[in-house]
Amino acid sequence: MEQVESGMRLGLGTGSTVTHFLEFLAARIQAGTVTGLVTVPTSVRTEECARELGIPLAELHEAAPLDLTVDGADEVGPGLDLIKGLGGALLREKMVAQASRRLVIMVDDSKEVRRLGTRVPLPVEVTRFGWRSQLAFLRQIGGEPALRSGEGGSPFLTDNGNHVIDCRFAGGLDEPEAVEDALRRRAGVVESGLFLGIATAVVVAGAGGVRVLERGGA
Ligand code: A5P
Repeated sequence: MEQVESGMRLGLGTGSTVTHFLEFLAARIQAGTVTGLVTVPTSVRTEECARELGIPLAELHEAAPLDLTVDGADEVGPGLDLIKGLGGALLREKMVAQASRRLVIMVDDSKEVRRLGTRVPLPVEVTRFGWRSQLAFLRQIGGEPALRSGEGGSPFLTDNGNHVIDCRFAGGLDEPEAVEDALRRRAGVVESGLFLGIATAVVVAGAGGVRVLERGGA
Protein backbone atom coordinates (compact mmCIF):
# COMPACT_ATOMS: atom_id res chain seq x y z
CA MET A 1 0.00 0.00 0.00
CA GLU A 2 2.93 2.33 0.73
CA GLN A 3 3.92 2.05 -2.94
CA VAL A 4 0.59 3.40 -4.20
CA GLU A 5 0.70 7.08 -5.15
CA SER A 6 -1.91 9.48 -6.49
CA GLY A 7 -2.42 9.36 -10.25
CA MET A 8 -1.07 5.81 -10.61
CA ARG A 9 -2.35 3.26 -13.06
CA LEU A 10 -2.71 0.09 -11.01
CA GLY A 11 -3.25 -3.58 -11.77
CA LEU A 12 -5.38 -5.40 -9.18
CA GLY A 13 -4.56 -9.08 -8.65
CA THR A 14 -6.88 -11.84 -7.47
CA GLY A 15 -7.23 -13.85 -4.28
CA SER A 16 -7.84 -13.58 -0.57
CA THR A 17 -4.64 -11.59 0.06
CA VAL A 18 -5.52 -9.06 -2.63
CA THR A 19 -8.99 -8.67 -1.13
CA HIS A 20 -7.36 -7.14 1.98
CA PHE A 21 -5.34 -4.84 -0.28
CA LEU A 22 -8.54 -3.69 -2.03
CA GLU A 23 -10.14 -2.85 1.31
CA PHE A 24 -7.12 -0.75 2.36
CA LEU A 25 -7.02 0.90 -1.07
CA ALA A 26 -10.70 1.80 -0.88
CA ALA A 27 -10.18 3.28 2.59
CA ARG A 28 -7.36 5.48 1.28
CA ILE A 29 -9.48 6.61 -1.68
CA GLN A 30 -12.36 7.47 0.65
CA ALA A 31 -10.05 9.34 2.99
CA GLY A 32 -8.66 11.28 0.01
CA THR A 33 -5.05 10.31 0.73
CA VAL A 34 -4.74 8.90 -2.80
CA THR A 35 -6.53 10.47 -5.75
CA GLY A 36 -6.76 10.04 -9.51
CA LEU A 37 -6.16 6.28 -9.54
CA VAL A 38 -7.08 4.12 -12.52
CA THR A 39 -7.18 0.36 -11.91
CA VAL A 40 -7.43 -2.78 -14.03
CA PRO A 41 -8.81 -5.95 -12.38
CA THR A 42 -7.44 -9.42 -13.17
CA SER A 43 -10.71 -11.31 -12.64
CA VAL A 44 -14.44 -10.91 -12.48
CA ARG A 45 -14.19 -11.52 -8.73
CA THR A 46 -11.75 -8.62 -8.27
CA GLU A 47 -13.75 -6.42 -10.62
CA GLU A 48 -16.93 -6.96 -8.60
CA CYS A 49 -15.12 -6.41 -5.31
CA ALA A 50 -13.47 -3.19 -6.58
CA ARG A 51 -16.78 -1.89 -7.93
CA GLU A 52 -18.52 -2.52 -4.59
CA LEU A 53 -15.71 -0.70 -2.78
CA GLY A 54 -15.87 2.30 -5.13
CA ILE A 55 -12.42 1.76 -6.69
CA PRO A 56 -12.30 3.30 -10.20
CA LEU A 57 -11.94 0.68 -12.96
CA ALA A 58 -10.69 0.76 -16.54
CA GLU A 59 -10.04 -1.64 -19.41
CA LEU A 60 -6.46 -2.82 -19.90
CA HIS A 61 -6.02 -0.99 -23.21
CA GLU A 62 -7.21 2.27 -21.65
CA ALA A 63 -4.83 2.14 -18.69
CA ALA A 64 -1.69 0.40 -20.03
CA PRO A 65 1.16 0.76 -19.45
CA LEU A 66 0.44 0.30 -15.74
CA ASP A 67 2.74 1.72 -13.06
CA LEU A 68 2.24 -1.09 -10.57
CA THR A 69 0.34 -4.36 -10.18
CA VAL A 70 -0.22 -5.86 -6.74
CA ASP A 71 -1.09 -9.55 -6.59
CA GLY A 72 -0.79 -12.74 -4.54
CA ALA A 73 0.89 -16.01 -5.49
CA ASP A 74 0.72 -19.70 -4.64
CA GLU A 75 4.48 -20.36 -4.58
CA VAL A 76 7.53 -18.12 -4.57
CA GLY A 77 10.72 -19.84 -5.66
CA PRO A 78 14.35 -18.81 -6.26
CA GLY A 79 14.81 -15.60 -8.25
CA LEU A 80 11.26 -14.50 -7.40
CA ASP A 81 9.85 -16.97 -9.91
CA LEU A 82 6.24 -17.83 -9.10
CA ILE A 83 3.45 -20.31 -9.51
CA LYS A 84 0.08 -18.61 -9.70
CA GLY A 85 -3.42 -19.61 -10.74
CA LEU A 86 -4.88 -21.64 -7.89
CA GLY A 87 -7.65 -19.04 -8.02
CA GLY A 88 -8.02 -19.61 -11.75
CA ALA A 89 -7.14 -16.06 -12.82
CA LEU A 90 -3.71 -16.86 -14.30
CA LEU A 91 -4.31 -15.60 -17.85
CA ARG A 92 -5.58 -12.15 -16.92
CA GLU A 93 -3.04 -11.95 -14.10
CA LYS A 94 -0.17 -12.57 -16.50
CA MET A 95 -1.55 -10.15 -19.12
CA VAL A 96 -1.89 -7.38 -16.53
CA ALA A 97 1.51 -8.19 -14.98
CA GLN A 98 3.20 -8.01 -18.38
CA ALA A 99 1.58 -4.62 -18.97
CA SER A 100 3.00 -3.30 -15.67
CA ARG A 101 6.32 -1.62 -14.92
CA ARG A 102 6.34 -3.26 -11.48
CA LEU A 103 4.71 -6.43 -10.16
CA VAL A 104 4.64 -6.61 -6.36
CA ILE A 105 3.56 -9.94 -4.88
CA MET A 106 2.23 -10.41 -1.33
CA VAL A 107 2.48 -13.81 0.36
CA ASP A 108 2.93 -15.41 3.74
CA ASP A 109 6.10 -17.39 4.32
CA SER A 110 4.36 -20.78 3.92
CA LYS A 111 4.46 -20.07 0.16
CA GLU A 112 8.26 -19.76 -0.09
CA VAL A 113 9.80 -22.86 -1.72
CA ARG A 114 13.29 -23.91 -2.74
CA ARG A 115 11.91 -25.48 -5.91
CA LEU A 116 8.73 -24.53 -7.78
CA GLY A 117 6.03 -27.19 -7.90
CA THR A 118 6.79 -28.77 -4.53
CA ARG A 119 3.88 -27.21 -2.63
CA VAL A 120 1.17 -26.80 -5.27
CA PRO A 121 0.45 -28.17 -8.75
CA LEU A 122 1.10 -26.03 -11.80
CA PRO A 123 -2.21 -24.68 -13.18
CA VAL A 124 -2.47 -24.82 -16.97
CA GLU A 125 -5.39 -23.06 -18.67
CA VAL A 126 -6.56 -24.96 -21.77
CA THR A 127 -9.32 -24.55 -24.32
CA ARG A 128 -12.43 -26.62 -23.74
CA PHE A 129 -12.09 -27.99 -27.25
CA GLY A 130 -9.85 -31.02 -27.13
CA TRP A 131 -8.81 -30.58 -23.49
CA ARG A 132 -8.44 -34.36 -23.04
CA SER A 133 -5.81 -34.37 -25.78
CA GLN A 134 -3.60 -32.25 -23.49
CA LEU A 135 -3.36 -34.97 -20.84
CA ALA A 136 -0.87 -37.17 -22.75
CA PHE A 137 1.18 -34.08 -23.70
CA LEU A 138 1.34 -32.93 -20.08
CA ARG A 139 2.48 -36.41 -19.01
CA GLN A 140 5.16 -36.30 -21.72
CA ILE A 141 6.66 -33.16 -20.19
CA GLY A 142 6.75 -34.81 -16.76
CA GLY A 143 3.46 -33.77 -15.22
CA GLU A 144 0.65 -35.68 -13.55
CA PRO A 145 -2.39 -33.81 -14.89
CA ALA A 146 -5.83 -33.55 -13.29
CA LEU A 147 -8.73 -31.53 -14.65
CA ARG A 148 -9.85 -28.97 -12.05
CA SER A 149 -13.44 -29.37 -10.83
CA GLY A 150 -15.71 -26.48 -10.05
CA GLU A 151 -18.91 -26.21 -8.07
CA GLY A 152 -21.00 -29.39 -8.07
CA GLY A 153 -18.11 -31.41 -9.48
CA SER A 154 -18.46 -30.13 -13.05
CA PRO A 155 -15.28 -28.92 -14.78
CA PHE A 156 -14.06 -25.55 -13.53
CA LEU A 157 -14.44 -22.68 -16.02
CA THR A 158 -12.17 -19.64 -15.97
CA ASP A 159 -13.43 -16.11 -16.56
CA ASN A 160 -12.35 -16.71 -20.17
CA GLY A 161 -14.50 -19.84 -20.57
CA ASN A 162 -11.57 -22.27 -20.49
CA HIS A 163 -10.72 -25.28 -18.33
CA VAL A 164 -7.74 -25.59 -15.96
CA ILE A 165 -5.59 -28.69 -15.73
CA ASP A 166 -3.57 -28.83 -12.51
CA CYS A 167 -0.27 -30.55 -13.12
CA ARG A 168 1.80 -32.07 -10.33
CA PHE A 169 5.51 -32.63 -10.92
CA ALA A 170 7.03 -35.29 -8.65
CA GLY A 171 9.75 -33.58 -6.63
CA GLY A 172 8.95 -30.21 -8.22
CA LEU A 173 10.04 -28.61 -11.49
CA ASP A 174 13.63 -29.34 -12.56
CA GLU A 175 13.61 -26.83 -15.37
CA PRO A 176 10.72 -24.35 -15.15
CA GLU A 177 11.90 -22.48 -18.28
CA ALA A 178 11.81 -25.67 -20.38
CA VAL A 179 8.30 -26.48 -19.13
CA GLU A 180 7.15 -22.93 -19.86
CA ASP A 181 8.62 -23.08 -23.38
CA ALA A 182 6.92 -26.42 -24.09
CA LEU A 183 3.57 -25.10 -22.84
CA ARG A 184 3.89 -21.90 -24.85
CA ARG A 185 4.47 -23.87 -28.06
CA ARG A 186 1.47 -26.14 -27.54
CA ALA A 187 -1.76 -25.23 -29.37
CA GLY A 188 -4.76 -25.33 -27.07
CA VAL A 189 -2.71 -24.33 -24.04
CA VAL A 190 -3.91 -20.82 -23.33
CA GLU A 191 -1.58 -19.97 -20.43
CA SER A 192 0.50 -21.50 -17.67
CA GLY A 193 0.73 -20.45 -14.04
CA LEU A 194 4.51 -20.08 -14.25
CA PHE A 195 5.49 -16.43 -13.79
CA LEU A 196 9.21 -16.48 -14.56
CA GLY A 197 11.24 -13.28 -14.35
CA ILE A 198 8.12 -11.16 -14.00
CA ALA A 199 7.88 -10.21 -10.30
CA THR A 200 9.75 -7.07 -9.27
CA ALA A 201 9.40 -7.60 -5.53
CA VAL A 202 7.79 -10.05 -3.09
CA VAL A 203 6.49 -8.94 0.30
CA VAL A 204 6.69 -11.93 2.66
CA ALA A 205 4.79 -11.92 5.93
CA GLY A 206 5.78 -14.30 8.71
CA ALA A 207 5.66 -14.68 12.45
CA GLY A 208 8.83 -12.59 12.70
CA GLY A 209 7.46 -9.66 10.67
CA VAL A 210 7.55 -8.59 7.03
CA ARG A 211 10.46 -8.99 4.60
CA VAL A 212 10.67 -7.43 1.14
CA LEU A 213 12.58 -9.42 -1.48
CA GLU A 214 13.62 -7.32 -4.47
CA ARG A 215 14.56 -8.68 -7.88
CA GLY A 216 18.35 -8.81 -8.05
CA GLY A 217 18.58 -7.67 -4.43
CA ALA A 218 18.56 -9.04 -0.93
C1 A5P B 1 -5.26 -16.43 -8.61
O1 A5P B 1 -5.41 -17.05 -9.82
C2 A5P B 1 -3.93 -16.76 -8.01
O2 A5P B 1 -2.87 -16.57 -8.85
C3 A5P B 1 -3.78 -15.99 -6.71
O3 A5P B 1 -2.95 -14.89 -6.90
C4 A5P B 1 -3.23 -16.90 -5.73
O4 A5P B 1 -4.04 -18.06 -5.72
C5 A5P B 1 -3.14 -16.30 -4.33
O5 A5P B 1 -4.36 -16.33 -3.68
P1 A5P B 1 -4.47 -16.18 -2.10
O6 A5P B 1 -4.02 -14.79 -1.78
O7 A5P B 1 -5.93 -16.39 -1.83
O8 A5P B 1 -3.61 -17.22 -1.48
